[in-house]
Amino acid sequence: MPELPKRPDMLIRGFSVFKGAIDPAGQARIVECLRDVVAAAPLFSPQTPYGKPMSVRMTSAGRVGWHADRTGYRYTTHHPNGTAWPPIPKPVLDVWRMVSGVDRDPDCCLVNYYGEGARMGLHQDKDEADFRWPVVSISLGDDALFRVGNVTRGGTTESLWLGSGDVVVMGGDARLAYHGIDRTRFASSQLLPKGGRINLTLRVAV
Ligand code: SIN
Ligand code: FE2
Repeated sequence: MPELPKRPDMLIRGFSVFKGAIDPAGQARIVECLRDVVAAAPLFSPQTPYGKPMSVRMTSAGRVGWHADRTGYRYTTHHPNGTAWPPIPKPVLDVWRMVSGVDRDPDCCLVNYYGEGARMGLHQDKDEADFRWPVVSISLGDDALFRVGNVTRGGTTESLWLGSGDVVVMGGDARLAYHGIDRTRFASSQLLPKGGRINLTLRVAV
């Protein structure tokens, strides 16, 4: 059985926000684990079907990884370099177990690295097979301005700054809400030696 989920500190458009859910030691432990992930499955710059590369660099851990290229978006069993994705680190799974409220572990941990100037346009997470499972997002490093809209395109949006150690659960009626990152405050955090932000999204994908 999963532990009882912690109560969120706030709700934004149905997304549950847990501020500072991961303490600095826990954040450092996760970053250490991610060094092994990135050594096995190096960050790459995904191309989009629109021909424009994404400004984040990306890799994955888990049974499947998320991949974007000219032909579309999908989950794959292997990194573009041909190696199987490394396992999701235990301290990352522990966060999912604490907040997700479900008793199945995720099969994908997408790793997004935001260097200076990186952003992510408003989008839905909709490449998964079953939207009843939540998506859990972990923020590490620099502050980021997170924008949340509606489950259909357009309409008003709300924004909030996410800091290192914050966790967001995108689930329930808000599972398909549009969201994105407008900008980060580069080098606002000392967690990563060269600055930048890492966002992990955990998904039950297949
Ligand atoms: C995402 O939607 O995949 C990333 C969100 C974030 O970077 O906080
Ligand atoms: Fe997303």
